[in-house]
Amino acid sequence: MELKCKNCGTRVFMGNAWELIHELVPGREAIIITDINIVDLYGDHFPDYPVITIGTGEAVKELETVQTIIKHLLAIGADRSSFLLGIGGGIVCDITGFVASIYMRGVNFGFVSSSLLSQVDASIGGKNGVNIHGIKNIIGCFNHPSFVICDTNMLRTLPDEEFISGLGELVKHALILDGNLFESIEYNIKPILARDYDLLGELISKSIALKASVVEKDEKEDGERRLLNFGHTLGHAIEAATGSRHGLSVAAGMMVAVEISYDEGLISKEEKERISNTLKVLGLLPGIQINWQNIGDKILADKKKQGNMINFILLNGIGRAIQKEYQLPDIMDKLKDKTG
Ligand SMILES: NC(=O)c1ccc[n+]([C@@H]2O[C@H](COP(=O)([O-])OP(=O)(O)OC[C@H]3O[C@@H](n4cnc5c(N)ncnc54)[C@H](O)[C@@H]3O)[C@@H](O)[C@H]2O)c1
Repeated sequence: MELKCKNCGTRVFMGNAWELIHELVPGREAIIITDINIVDLYGDHFPDYPVITIGTGEAVKELETVQTIIKHLLAIGADRSSFLLGIGGGIVCDITGFVASIYMRGVNFGFVSSSLLSQVDASIGGKNGVNIHGIKNIIGCFNHPSFVICDTNMLRTLPDEEFISGLGELVKHALILDGNLFESIEYNIKPILARDYDLLGELISKSIALKASVVEKDEKEDGERRLLNFGHTLGHAIEAATGSRHGLSVAAGMMVAVEISYDEGLISKEEKERISNTLKVLGLLPGIQINWQNIGDKILADKKKQGNMINFILLNGIGRAIQKEYQLPDIMDKLKDKTG
């Protein structure tokens, strides 16, 4: 099945990765960038291309890794006609896209998106980048891959904690953009947790279509795309300060944003409880210990901050997000109150 992101030109395929790679890689030649886990699990399926392997975990998403990859590319003799194929989760995709965007001022690239989080979110939308000293995605660019392959069969090897983390971004898309999708998640909690792969395929496709519909209208995040940052101002700070997985950190950030939405009279108590219940049952609110001293500074480094103002995303009902501009001290007080 092929979904097309209209303005960005990316072709998104749901299907068998190893067959699709052969059809999609231009000239049938590529250089693979992947991580050690993926090589162990899937290296035997890789086509006969050079492979550059990186480590795992958010700590590798730094400039040193970019440099190491670039040195490998030079050693391999990669030139402007080379095609980079990232095979992995969000970290591999974010780094591959960034390297491809700057190597010799830009080469073409594609992804085999292997984690639930990267299938529902990270590999779609053209945001690439790395952290600097743990400040999330503080350097990067907008640049779209030629294609993204999402193979739900690869999710069979995904550890439970990574699977649950991926559900965080799926629920986010439902909460901000599609109340029916949220209802469908609520209704299907058991088969989702039992990893019904047909159902997951449908949910992933919906999530991709939702994200693509926003990115098409606002590629560079000047307006509507900001809604996709729901839960992320606090989520990124929690992720950087605690080392918690991305989806769990975002879920904690979403729950605080839901509480602020309730305080602002935008959602009902019943809606707040439905959301909190769904996040809990999915295992997305394990009670991460948050220390305000550690996250306060990280919130101030948020890219959404402009001078003394910050755009904060709230829910105006389930399936509808809005942006609200706050004075920085006001939102910091609210966040401190909810997390302290
Ligand atoms: N660019 C974007 O728009 C965007 C959006 C959301 C998140 N992100 C970024 O994505 C990153 C998180 O992505 P992630 O959760 O995929 O993390 P990840 O890339 O670290 O993958 C999680 C773990 O799962 C392993 N893994 C991946 N696929 C597997 C498979 N099929 N079987 C077994 N193990 C597998 C990886 O080796 C890794 O250990 C964060 O850095 C976040 O900032 C980017």
